[in-house]
Amino acid sequence: MQRDYPNLCKPITLGKLTLRNRMASAPMGATDILADGTPGPRTLGFYEARAKGGAASVTVSELVVHPATDGSQMLHLSLATPGQLGAFAYVADAIKRHGAVASIELSHSGQYAGTYMVDKEKKGSLCQWGPSDGVRPDGMPVRALSVEQIADIVAAYAEAAALAKRAGFQMCMVHAGHGWLLNQFLSPYFNKREDEYGGSLENRVRIVREVLSAVREATGPGFPIELRMSGSELFDGGYDVEEGCRIAQALQDQIDLLHVSAGSYQFGFSLTHPSMFRDHGVNVHLAARIKQCVDVPVATIGGLSDPAQMEEIIASGKADMVAMARGLLADPELPNKVMANRGADVVKCVRCFVCMAERPITQTRRCAVNPLIGREFEGLEIVPAGSRKRVLVVGGGIAGLKAAHTAALRGHDVTLCEASGALGGILNTEAALPFKYDMYELARTYARLIEHAGVHIILNQPVDAAFCETFKPDALIVAVGSEELELPMPADADAWVIGIDELYLENADPGDEVVIIGGGLTGCECALLMAQQGRTVHVVEMGPELAPDANIRNRPILLAELENTDIEVLTGARAEAIQADGVMVALSDGTTRVVPGTSVISAIGRRSRSAVVEGLRDGAPFVRVVGDALRPANICLAIYEAYHAALDI
Ligand SMILES: Cc1cc2nc3c(=O)[nH]c(=O)nc-3n(C[C@H](O)[C@H](O)[C@H](O)COP(=O)(O)O)c2cc1C
Repeated sequence: MQRDYPNLCKPITLGKLTLRNRMASAPMGATDILADGTPGPRTLGFYEARAKGGAASVTVSELVVHPATDGSQMLHLSLATPGQLGAFAYVADAIKRHGAVASIELSHSGQYAGTYMVDKEKKGSLCQWGPSDGVRPDGMPVRALSVEQIADIVAAYAEAAALAKRAGFQMCMVHAGHGWLLNQFLSPYFNKREDEYGGSLENRVRIVREVLSAVREATGPGFPIELRMSGSELFDGGYDVEEGCRIAQALQDQIDLLHVSAGSYQFGFSLTHPSMFRDHGVNVHLAARIKQCVDVPVATIGGLSDPAQMEEIIASGKADMVAMARGLLADPELPNKVMANRGADVVKCVRCFVCMAERPITQTRRCAVNPLIGREFEGLEIVPAGSRKRVLVVGGGIAGLKAAHTAALRGHDVTLCEASGALGGILNTEAALPFKYDMYELARTYARLIEHAGVHIILNQPVDAAFCETFKPDALIVAVGSEELELPMPADADAWVIGIDELYLENADPGDEVVIIGGGLTGCECALLMAQQGRTVHVVEMGPELAPDANIRNRPILLAELENTDIEVLTGARAEAIQADGVMVALSDGTTRVVPGTSVISAIGRRSRSAVVEGLRDGAPFVRVVGDALRPANICLAIYEAYHAALDI
């Protein structure tokens, strides 16, 4: 067959191992870790799904090689604990049985030990070890590793690699990027040693060379070693890409694949994990530059999930492989879809950081667009329904689309009615925000998917009890969404007030100076857009802080974007009245002032379309209300509820 993406689909040989295509599953954090540091059944299910989805290799995340100096709740592998090897062997086996290569990341967090621990007290009591004495930006003291400790750590890498190989892993990734221990040694910022492990580049790479040589010796020839490094540390004082080239040149004779990532923990999280405010593939240039300087195959990563873009990267020789983390969290079937010329069906990551926010809070996995994530082992995948039912989905927003798609894949006879003239619901507003275009595209993807799945789509069709009486569905999914709250304060007749939906959907021009009432996530994103468009912006927020509803990973990134603008933020400020020339605001100090604006944008929140919902309660034997129609929330909940509603029919 003629492949749409021939370069992405081409096998690649590393050492004696041939990988089936150029799409690798990058490390994606550990969850479901048992008390002895072994992977639990959900971890197995998670990795197995990525292998089944067609990835060339699946790298199990972050095996802590030296718990004595890297205390954390991550995976450990040691024969000291009976039964440990078996747990890893089952994971390797689950990856390999689907034709993917099983790899494992060998890691030491160095001074960032315990970063992802939930128990903050225990985390605070950990001893932090790094190349040099110092104090972390968060005030945690760091102690320099002795030469004896370094030797012990090097030996631990070898031992872990040998055990991993014995457990059935076919290759390994040595993590020397992102500010973790080996990166700390490579970095002129972190490494201030004056012995043979510090100073010159030759000295700074020494520990990595020792680790690579010990791992090679322990695993023998033909067991590919992938080295993960940051192509550039991307902060002042760290190494740049030209030094990254020299580091790569100094290490290439010991490795089979060079994985070029970017950035450093605590300095540039949103560069290592490119946020929605960065271009897709923003770090590819680092891999491309380093590839010009080395002879080993090079992998690139960072905000990639578009098959056409990834194909171009390989075709143009910028890299030999692409790796994905969030792209495969969102859609583990991505590689299979690429291989089958179904690139348009890929459900792309929207870079909302739900995945990274959930882990430190609950130690489980969530993904806004993938309801199955972390629960692959629980038997919740789509299976054909026992009997074909007549399903009516009311509402063509993301919840309705997801429910309709899932029900149709189960073999039901599905009709979706949408009251407006277009599918997409609230996601259609995101088209106005360049940094949220992926969310808009998500609705377009699902609109296409439901059509292919055979869903009958009826636009401009509101649904009420009478409609249901005639239609007689066996199951009714109510996904009618939410509507904007109206501003509760008085407004002059000649004041210009615009709701968020109107602003975005009708591409309204709010004038040169705007006052946004409401500093939640929606108001903040709107403020950023308005500022990017060159308008003067004021945000009036009643609460003490901006965007409390944003997740803990996305929020600081969003706030940093806002700080780069001239937006005026008034927190603890209550909008009292809307005037033609602005908004009368009561400030926290008891004074009032008029915040000037040619227009006022209302971003105070939404409410469910409860009247419609109530009218449909008796519309069918099975009725389920999902998404914003239940209570205004977010895409993650909407998709999760919609999926499970459809599974329950
Ligand atoms: C939920 C999550 C967990 C991650 N955990 C690890 C990890 O354990 N080790 C690691 O080297 N990188 C980890 N990363 C970083 C990814 O491997 C990858 O470098 C980064 O997310 C950028 O790729 P992406 O844009 O395809 O997500 C993690 C990323 C995510 C989203």
